[in-house]
Amino acid sequence: MIVIRSLLIVFGGTGDLAHRKIYPAIYNLYASGHLPEHFALLAIGRKDKSEEAFRSEAATAIKKFSRENRSGSQDDINHTVSRFYYHRADFTVYDGYDELKERMKDLEERYGTQGNRVYYLAVAPEHFGPIVENIGEMGLSNQNEGYDRVVIEKPFGKDLKSAVQLNNLIALVFSEEQIYRIDHYLGKEMLQNISVIRFANAFFEPLWNNKYIDHIQITSSETVGVENRGGYYESAGAMRDMMQNHMLQLLMLTAMEPPISLKTHDIRDEKIKILKSIVPISSQQVDTHVVRGQYGEGKLYGSPVPGYRSEDRVPPNSDTETYMAMKVEVENTRWVGVPFYLRTGKRMPVKTTNIVIEFRSLPKILYFKEFNNLEPNRLIIEIQPREGIIMRFNGKKPGTKNEIIPVELDFCQNCAIGEVSPDSYEKLLLDVMAGDSTLFTRWDEVEYAWKFMDNISLRWNEQAPDFPNYEAGTWGPPDAERLLRSDGRSWFNR
Ligand code: BG6
Repeated sequence: MIVIRSLLIVFGGTGDLAHRKIYPAIYNLYASGHLPEHFALLAIGRKDKSEEAFRSEAATAIKKFSRENRSGSQDDINHTVSRFYYHRADFTVYDGYDELKERMKDLEERYGTQGNRVYYLAVAPEHFGPIVENIGEMGLSNQNEGYDRVVIEKPFGKDLKSAVQLNNLIALVFSEEQIYRIDHYLGKEMLQNISVIRFANAFFEPLWNNKYIDHIQITSSETVGVENRGGYYESAGAMRDMMQNHMLQLLMLTAMEPPISLKTHDIRDEKIKILKSIVPISSQQVDTHVVRGQYGEGKLYGSPVPGYRSEDRVPPNSDTETYMAMKVEVENTRWVGVPFYLRTGKRMPVKTTNIVIEFRSLPKILYFKEFNNLEPNRLIIEIQPREGIIMRFNGKKPGTKNEIIPVELDFCQNCAIGEVSPDSYEKLLLDVMAGDSTLFTRWDEVEYAWKFMDNISLRWNEQAPDFPNYEAGTWGPPDAERLLRSDGRSWFNR
């Protein structure tokens, strides 16, 4: 068994991401017995605060954001934050890194982390460059004693050009093996399960192709609006926030060929082949294959909610999309002729991420001749919040002579009371410390994803959208319905 030793240095240590995700994840690792013994966390922030105050804020965040079944023990929380340290510094300027280096050395000795460091950049994207440069200048990336790894949050750039620039800059300081580009969807239990379902079962793989599958729908809908992230979201929109990364990851995992082994590079090689096989959407096709939307005011669970343009730090004439749907074609022998419809949006009626695989109908004989409206067979992979798999097929309605109804075989992995799957950040943080980059994005994945998306944003920039075009609490703009209707299909909402 490898003994993990690591010092985790969190840039942006007083920020939202650190409090919502990183600290609760560390706590959960501790509470489940997975936090390495030789571990300490050094948070860097610009605010002036004592270590005590920092720990108390971290403890409050842990209580608030930790997954339900771990809300418990104050002792565990105290133990966790006793390994948290705070260092005040303006991380964008070089002066001050000397002091940081001393601080790190001190903690390394105290916790026996043997010079292994993970730098987590939980900061706004414009700070990635300066921080990495400073780390490089100080010689803190040279892996002299142990490893030096850097974790970078998405979005990685805002288009291909800026992503290349950012990557070139990081590459001057860290090698590709040291870079962990995080996409937290990859740490979700059910995303990892897609491969198992596909490649460890005789049921599915033989049917997983254009001979049997009609089309695939991938949905990630959220009920929340932009909350307090209007400033960031204005520069991102649904395309850069969700589609370019999380949604394309879901597509890659659903569509990829079986890798020749479970080794990191073999899996990543297969994923990237999917991105390379996606048919680019031309400028004209953007109008017919892609839909963008922005929510106006509406109702959610019966209560009125404001439109996007009235949200905090959003200009009243904003053209930022909060919804995006598109039709994607993967041109390889397995998938040619099978469209993938992807959609994601905020302020939709339910929070769900799922993949719906819709099978072709049988020839029009027997029941398919007698009954006009038999539902197609569907396999639904539920990623969240419910984690499971549903097989939807046709069966005879009991007690009738010949009535046919859709029935479901339902496997729910997180329905048992008390079972809450580990948050993806738990898995991913542990993987970085252990040096497993399988569930992180390789540079060429980012590159090809932007290449594909850039065509769309170029076209969008030519024309002002007619926003808002969907009411909060609904399933998106009417054009999204038309996108499928024009192919004789419809969205399967759950
Ligand atoms: C983040 C986006 O990457 O994913 C957010 O920045 C979004 O806007 C979030 O809300 C959704 O994640 P999850 O795990 O709740 O589906």
